[in-house]
Amino acid sequence: MIQNRKDEHLRIAASSNVEEGDSLFDEVQLIHNALPEMDFNDVEPEVTIFGKKLSFPFIIGALTGGTETAEKVNATLAKAAEEFNIGMYVGSQRVAIVKPETARSFKVVGENAPNALKIANLGAPQVSRLSDRELIDWVNEAVDMINADAVAIHLNPAQELFQPEGEPWFKNVLSKLRLIRRVVNRPLIVKEVGNGISMEVAKTLSNIPPDAIDVAGLGGTSFIRIESIRSGETSEADVFRNWGIPTLLSICEVSSVYDGLIFASGGIRNGLDGAKAIAIGANAFSMSRPMLLSALKGYDSVKETINKLMWEFKAAMFLTGSRNVNDLKKAPVVASLTILLWLIQRGVRCKLTMSMYDTLKPIASVLMNNLVRIRISE
Ligand SMILES: Cc1cc2nc3c(=O)[nH]c(=O)nc-3n(C[C@H](O)[C@H](O)[C@H](O)COP(=O)(O)O)c2cc1C
Repeated sequence: MIQNRKDEHLRIAASSNVEEGDSLFDEVQLIHNALPEMDFNDVEPEVTIFGKKLSFPFIIGALTGGTETAEKVNATLAKAAEEFNIGMYVGSQRVAIVKPETARSFKVVGENAPNALKIANLGAPQVSRLSDRELIDWVNEAVDMINADAVAIHLNPAQELFQPEGEPWFKNVLSKLRLIRRVVNRPLIVKEVGNGISMEVAKTLSNIPPDAIDVAGLGGTSFIRIESIRSGETSEADVFRNWGIPTLLSICEVSSVYDGLIFASGGIRNGLDGAKAIAIGANAFSMSRPMLLSALKGYDSVKETINKLMWEFKAAMFLTGSRNVNDLKKAPVVASLTILLWLIQRGVRCKLTMSMYDTLKPIASVLMNNLVRIRISE
């Protein structure tokens, strides 16, 4: 039963080590500014996303719905989203559409967070099998259920592959995304669930284009691990333990080809990771499993987690001399060789490689000129 699966996801994510890979945020460094020329209190971390002002660019990640435990988690997180004025995704709402008696577990989000930025959620494989009419009905129902400001469709081929009752159906997804973009009156977000979005996928999506891409890269919660624990077959998961694009690299890949908003997630574990994500090209960041662990402990724990996250994010802004988030986007950042080697091999033109290409361009043109001269004099 679909509800049992939702509860198993929550139980395994809360009780086992389900994080894999490395998001690679430790491989980049923001440059310390010893002369910020402002007080800490002058830092303004607010941003506006889809018309909603957030107190800082943070969105509680997509987690759950459909069961009693999920309802408590969703209500707790929604209360915090409202109090802190941040965004919140809900988990996949398919369960509530096929079993309307479970819709209450999502409706609590609309009730507890009437003003916060709320994001509805459905999975690509499920929407790919619906007729166009059913698809529009499903998406509108998901939006109305929580009074959502935007709709996220998640791409999760690895999860579906490793899930015992998985549905690895990814034919026709693009045309369904295009239809949602055209017909549904809400911004569209396309997200992964922990294996990242490549430059090629972002380029293909740009033909739609969604209003935001949430990279949900490798380095945090692994659904390959969660589903393998559920099935009792962990040896295949060991083979694929590092499968995916580390979050930091996925942000660079997507930002090199896609003009819309970028949300960073997957293994973001503190406000400094979040600040680095923004400095290399994201517009907001998101955390899922840490929010689940806090929500299961209770509302005070969620408040403590968000307060800490916000302080760390503001501290990174202050220490880079960034008065607002636009300044942070321009903050200088350096990357290790591991990062650069990936980006060069992939031909990624992003903030981390631009200065390198700019430095190399004059050298390359001198080399080319000399080669031409040598040829002519021959
Ligand atoms: C228990 C659990 C359930 C999740 N369910 C969904 C879901 O229904 N829809 C979705 O888009 N992502 C879902 N995710 C994926 C997260 O939104 C996120 O992409 C992923 O966990 C990586 O972020 P993290 O490392 O901060 O946990 C779920 C994550 C967890 C831990």
